[in-house]
Amino acid sequence: MISEVELARLSYPEMPKIVTNDVPGAKAKALAAAALVHQTPTRPSVRGTLVIEEGKGAGIKDPDGNIYIDLSAGVAVSAVGRNHPAVIEAIRRQSERLMHSAGLVSETTVALAAKLAAVMPGGLRGNAFTWFGMSGSAAVETAIKYAKAITGRSQFAAFEGAYHGVFHGALALTTRESYRAPFRPFMPGVFHMPYAYCYRCFAGLSFPSCAVACGSYLDYKLTTPNTGADDVAAVIVEPMQADGGYIDPPVEFLQKLRAACDRSGALLIADEVQAGGGRTGRMWSIEHSGVVPDMLIWAKAVGGDMPLSGVTVHEKHRDRLPPSSQVITSAENALANVVALANLEILADPDLDLIGRSVALGDEVRRLFTEAARTSRVIDEVRGRGFFIGVELVRDKATRAPIEAKGMGLLAQRCERRGVRFMGCGRYGSTIRLMPPLVITREHLMRGVGILLDVIRDSEAEVLA
Ligand SMILES: Cc1ncc(COP(=O)(O)O)c(C=O)c1O
Repeated sequence: MISEVELARLSYPEMPKIVTNDVPGAKAKALAAAALVHQTPTRPSVRGTLVIEEGKGAGIKDPDGNIYIDLSAGVAVSAVGRNHPAVIEAIRRQSERLMHSAGLVSETTVALAAKLAAVMPGGLRGNAFTWFGMSGSAAVETAIKYAKAITGRSQFAAFEGAYHGVFHGALALTTRESYRAPFRPFMPGVFHMPYAYCYRCFAGLSFPSCAVACGSYLDYKLTTPNTGADDVAAVIVEPMQADGGYIDPPVEFLQKLRAACDRSGALLIADEVQAGGGRTGRMWSIEHSGVVPDMLIWAKAVGGDMPLSGVTVHEKHRDRLPPSSQVITSAENALANVVALANLEILADPDLDLIGRSVALGDEVRRLFTEAARTSRVIDEVRGRGFFIGVELVRDKATRAPIEAKGMGLLAQRCERRGVRFMGCGRYGSTIRLMPPLVITREHLMRGVGILLDVIRDSEAEVLA
């Protein structure tokens, strides 16, 4: 396993380090104000106050010299950390040879497609081909089109709480209203089923006595005539739901979805954009269930510092796809390809064992939150696997009424002032999601989590006011 000393070299050892009296400092404030001028208001980056000038490992440096521990890994993108030396070297070497392949056959695309096939979950492993794009949303669009072409059907089952991106097809699958309004109508033919969000079960049941009723409901819907779901091309699921609340469902849920798809002839599409790439203790979060999807959508951690996404599809579906029908001019970028190859090499390296290490450290973090929950009035369920950790914050543990957005905002702001970045998620925006880079040192992780726990404890009265 990689040593803590080696990991410390990848980040800023002294972080968190706040050098300005006020956070954000003057330069960050000026840049945040400038961001409002010529950039679209639909980008979240224009609303934030945290400014990034430089990144290293698990650290973010702003233009005033403040250094933050990023417990969100740039929204789960920087799995190997920002500016990993192997990534910098791969870019340097490749940039001298070729950067853009413009639809021509190229060595780096061939190599990356082969590497992806080799790291897929069993059943797809060595038996899959890949389409390349540049964002998770684009890959979701592609999976939708592929499912239609492969099955000759048109409907899609997605899940309540799902986030699959913001393009028109993907948005029809996504359920967060703040992304949907005012862009109706969406792609037709999509219906949403309950996800196995046991903490807030749609039927008020408990696992395991519920016998995973949500999974059975999907099976019933897909295999019973006249339920309104007679033409389902695919079921698309986040095997561990990210934006909806960092939820790790019982593995039986995914097994039921696979069985329902097999019985009805629908495809199963796993959206691993956020949970994939080693974050949950396996390379892909669906591996915990042993379920093999027909297609696996990936992005974020695979490309890391470069914009890259893709859909990896079981070989048996190849002949149904019309040649040259899903074209993206700027995809298959050679720099992005070599960075992804470096990232996958690092993540899958058994000697470094970053994934195994994140399982042990993730357990430790969950234990700290579970311990804190005993005395905290707001910390309730703590869940997840590896570095995919969700913590429910509530006003009332008996009713599970969530804390409000302003409470979450207060916690985020106070953490930023102390040099720690974290993000929220969940149906009510009241769940903390911890998704640190896999290369974070134990010391930095514990410092960051310690600050977050202190802030929650010290702010409890105001959060509940
Ligand atoms: C599960 C999931 N799918 C799709 C997307 C969309 O990816 P992108 O923002 O790269 O378009 C995201 C983004 O967070 C995601 O978490």
